[in-house]
Amino acid sequence: MKYPKKVLILFAHPALHKSRVNQALARQARRIAGITFHDLYAAYPEFDFLVTAEQDLMEAHDVIVFQFPFFWYSSPAIIKEWTDLVLTHGWAYGSEGKALEGKWVMHAITTGGRESAYHSNGLNRFTVREFLRPFEQTAVLCNMRFLPPFVVHGTHQMKPSDIQTHADTYRSVIRALRDDRLDIHAAERVLRINEGLSGIIRAREEA
Ligand SMILES: Cc1cc2nc3c(=O)[nH]c(=O)nc-3n(C[C@H](O)[C@H](O)[C@H](O)COP(=O)(O)O)c2cc1C
Repeated sequence: MKYPKKVLILFAHPALHKSRVNQALARQARRIAGITFHDLYAAYPEFDFLVTAEQDLMEAHDVIVFQFPFFWYSSPAIIKEWTDLVLTHGWAYGSEGKALEGKWVMHAITTGGRESAYHSNGLNRFTVREFLRPFEQTAVLCNMRFLPPFVVHGTHQMKPSDIQTHADTYRSVIRALRDDRLDIHAAERVLRINEGLSGIIRAREEA
């Protein structure tokens, strides 16, 4: 079956066997037809990237989703190394670097901290969207469209039923991206994509 948009999920969790939330989100995402799920730590445990293969993969997709747990207000290390090596000058950016032009980027992030901590009056002082500024500007430099992140806050005390609800929501967002049912203008008005989702994704949806 052909879908309007090709979605690539670049997944990074260095200790997946200990994961509760990313494990559940990834399980749902992997089951979606027409999606490419690429587990970076599984593919490159030594960070020895096949740069051309990674670039070919990006070129073959319209929407790139980076999924990872928040580590020190940023990504796990493999995402940084991948970015440094794969997004090359003359390919991703620079006057000749147009390979990624027009593609969409979304980050799917889980945080141990609660939502109330990611606030100007909270412990972490900034929202996840604010912490993602370097990722946003990287996308913009590469002529990509940066979407607000999908964020699951408060993973530490999360009940299995709540994890399942977030995984189901993640599935809806990825399917909406695949089916081109996401209203980008509505999405750009929110801090995270999984708030007010009914106003962002259009109805629906085949099996
Ligand atoms: C090295 C490390 C750094 C972390 N840094 C943060 C952080 O900056 N902010 C935060 O809210 N949680 C932080 N956490 C908690 C993780 O984000 C949390 O355990 C994860 O999102 C849970 O997802 P999982 O069940 O898939 O592992 C950190 C965890 C580790 C191991």
